[in-house]
Amino acid sequence: MFLYVVGLIVLLFVYRWFRELGRVPNKSEKFVYITGCDTGFGNLLARHLDTKGFRVIAGCYTEKGEDELKKACSDKLTALHLDVTDNDSIKKTADTIKTLVGQKGLWAVVNNAGISFPTAPNDWLDIEDFKQIIDVNLIGVVAVTLSVLPLIKKAKGRVVNVASVFGRISTVGGAYCITKYGVEAFNDSLRRNMAPFGVKVLCIEPGFFKTPVTDSTVFESHMERLWKKLPQEVKDEYGSDFIDKAKLVIKEKIEKMLDPDLMKVVSCMEHAVAAVHPRTRYSPGWDAKFFWLPLSYMPTFISDAFVLKNAVKPKVSVL
Ligand SMILES: NC(=O)c1ccc[n+]([C@@H]2O[C@H](COP(=O)([O-])OP(=O)(O)OC[C@H]3O[C@@H](n4cnc5c(N)ncnc54)[C@H](OP(=O)(O)O)[C@@H]3O)[C@@H](O)[C@H]2O)c1
Repeated sequence: MFLYVVGLIVLLFVYRWFRELGRVPNKSEKFVYITGCDTGFGNLLARHLDTKGFRVIAGCYTEKGEDELKKACSDKLTALHLDVTDNDSIKKTADTIKTLVGQKGLWAVVNNAGISFPTAPNDWLDIEDFKQIIDVNLIGVVAVTLSVLPLIKKAKGRVVNVASVFGRISTVGGAYCITKYGVEAFNDSLRRNMAPFGVKVLCIEPGFFKTPVTDSTVFESHMERLWKKLPQEVKDEYGSDFIDKAKLVIKEKIEKMLDPDLMKVVSCMEHAVAAVHPRTRYSPGWDAKFFWLPLSYMPTFISDAFVLKNAVKPKVSVL
């Protein structure tokens, strides 16, 4: 009996593997719009899809990013300036895309642009710290998607949203987890809304990877800046050695978790864009698959105990 069950599971995996091999035809006629292509996953995806033959429209935040990408890719790639927090910039890009794609419509948009700092205990932050991240990571995703949705419906194409394991479990203060939960919610309602139009909506939930959004020196400099601004009363609650202990955790625990192999994420993004049968959700990274996602399914008292055991505690902690 046990062997039959194991055999059946193996057979299901083989079937799924085989089913997921197929790629869509006519890549050279398919336009893919990616946001946040200056660095990290977006930059690598733009280069990768360009070599695969797609017509990439790369939204870059900086002129430097735009220039470097143009130099590194074929002349099929179009690099445009894009700030996802600026409505005029989003509209201008959407108008250019409309002209470029013509009657074919847009095959896919990949909502990749994102920021992660400041990340710190919630009582260290003010509302502007939250708004800044929400503008880029959540409002930006919704605004960019809406700006090109009619073109995607025309192509019966795809929306690929880059969320995070932090859209499944919230362990750190600040707006990052809030925005990724929001992206998950937008992704799920959009997937259901768009299914009747033949539009697929796919979500990428990476674990921890080594890119600028997980840069420990930037993380630390934001922590120091926020610490300096704190009222003495709050500093006393946390204790003068809190920031040094927090830095040690960043160095010794978080840095060691960072996976340098960005292709794990980019391969999932490519699959979401190009596979005939894409997955609804992708969880690239061993930490995502075997640690963060299982932890997110645990009863709250277990996930709380785990997170609190590993967190640096304030001096006045009662735990
Ligand atoms: N790295 C991870 O471990 C990890 C894990 C889960 C999810 N993610 C998500 O993956 C996505 C890509 O991040 P990444 O890790 O590849 O880091 P990244 O290299 O910093 O990529 C983010 C990109 O977004 C751009 N950007 C920032 N603000 C923007 C704005 N207002 N308008 C347009 N573009 C803007 C950045 O440009 P500049 O470089 O010029 O600032 C950068 O190119 C993000 O959504 C992130 O939350 C990352």
